[in-house]
Amino acid sequence: MQNPRTLQLWDSFYQSKVQEEGESHEEEWIIRPTDALMHQLLLPCFAQFSSGPTAAHLDILEIGCGTSSFSKSILAFWKKQEQENTALFQRTGPIELRILATDVSKTCIYHNKRRDCSLILDTISSSLPSLQYATLNAVEPTAEELQMLEQWGSFDLVFDKGGLDTFLFRSRYRGSDRADHPVVHSILQNIFSWLRPVTGIYTTITPRVKIKPLRNFGGFSQIDRRNLSAEASTAPLGDPNAVAAAKLELKSVQLKPVEFFAYICYRNESFNPAEGIELDAQQELAPLDSDACQKCKTKFSEFRGSLCLGSKSAKAWRREWKGHQSHCKGC
Ligand SMILES: C[S@@+](CC[C@H](N)C(=O)[O-])C[C@H]1O[C@@H](n2cnc3c(N)ncnc32)[C@H](O)[C@@H]1O
Repeated sequence: MQNPRTLQLWDSFYQSKVQEEGESHEEEWIIRPTDALMHQLLLPCFAQFSSGPTAAHLDILEIGCGTSSFSKSILAFWKKQEQENTALFQRTGPIELRILATDVSKTCIYHNKRRDCSLILDTISSSLPSLQYATLNAVEPTAEELQMLEQWGSFDLVFDKGGLDTFLFRSRYRGSDRADHPVVHSILQNIFSWLRPVTGIYTTITPRVKIKPLRNFGGFSQIDRRNLSAEASTAPLGDPNAVAAAKLELKSVQLKPVEFFAYICYRNESFNPAEGIELDAQQELAPLDSDACQKCKTKFSEFRGSLCLGSKSAKAWRREWKGHQSHCKGC
C-alpha cells in the first residue's frame, strides 16, 4: 500500500546520515523535544492516566521515531517528575513506565540501539522506566511485528512526531489532503487497535493546521488540537520567569518558522475497526442513500459515489452532505 520505494528511501536516508555523522547521530523533525514541550504534551495525558483506575504500568508506543530523542526525552521527563514527586507520583503504588520507540527503517533502529545502549542497559538492569527500540511498519506490520506488539499488550499512549506528515506528503495522494487517504486511514486503524480500550490516547505532532483524514476517522471520540507555539505562554507552571524562558526555549528549538500542533485523540469505544464504522451512530445518523438535495435533486448515494459508508465517520458524512446542500446552486 505504501510505496516500497518510500521505505527504501528512508532507510537510505538514515544510512547516509549515520555514515556522515557516526554513532552520535540524532536528527529532529519539526521540533526538538524539550522540557517545555514535554510539559505541554505529556501532562494532559498523564493527568488523564492518574485520574483513571490505578494501573501498574504506563505503556507508550512511538511510531516513526527516526533518530529523534523524543522517547528518551519522555523518559527523562518522567524521571524528573518522579524525583519532584508531582501529583502523578502521589498515587498509591508505583507506576512502571515502559516505552517502545519504533520505525520502519532497520538502519535507524539499529543505530538508535547502539547510540543509546548504555541507557537501555541501565533501564533493563534496574527495573526503572524502560526504553526499547524495535522495527515496526505502522502501515503494514509484518507477522513478527504483530507478535511483538501482542506481547506488549495495548498502549496507554501512542505518539508520532512528523509521522502522519510523512504519509500525507510522501504518497501519490501528496498535497491533496484527501479525507479518505488510504495509507493514513490504515495507519489510524492500526493505532486504534494498539491503544488501550477506554483510556488510550494517540497524539500526533505536526505543522498542519488541519488533517482531514484524521478528522474524518471514526476511531476517535474527541480530538483536541493544541497550538504548541501559542501555548508556550502557559508552559511551565505559572512562574513568569519560567514562562519567558519556556517561550524562548520553544522559539529557539522550532526547526522551521512555522506553527506546530499536537492533535490529542481519544479512543472511541463505539468504533468497530473491522467495519470501519461507528457501531451505534452510523446507521441512524449518516444520511440515507435515498435522501435528496432539495436544490439539485442529487441523491446522497450519488453524492458519495463509489466511496462506501464505512470510509468516513457518520459525523463526517453528515457534515459534507450538509455542506453540499447549503452551497448547492441547483441544476
Ligand atoms: C519525518 S520523519 C520523523 C522522525 C522523528 N519522529 C522525528 O520527529 O524526528 C518520519 C519517520 O517515519 C518513518 N516511516 C516512514 N514510513 C513508515 C512506516 N510505514 N511505519 C513506520 N515508520 C515509518 C521514517 O523512517 C521516518 O523515520
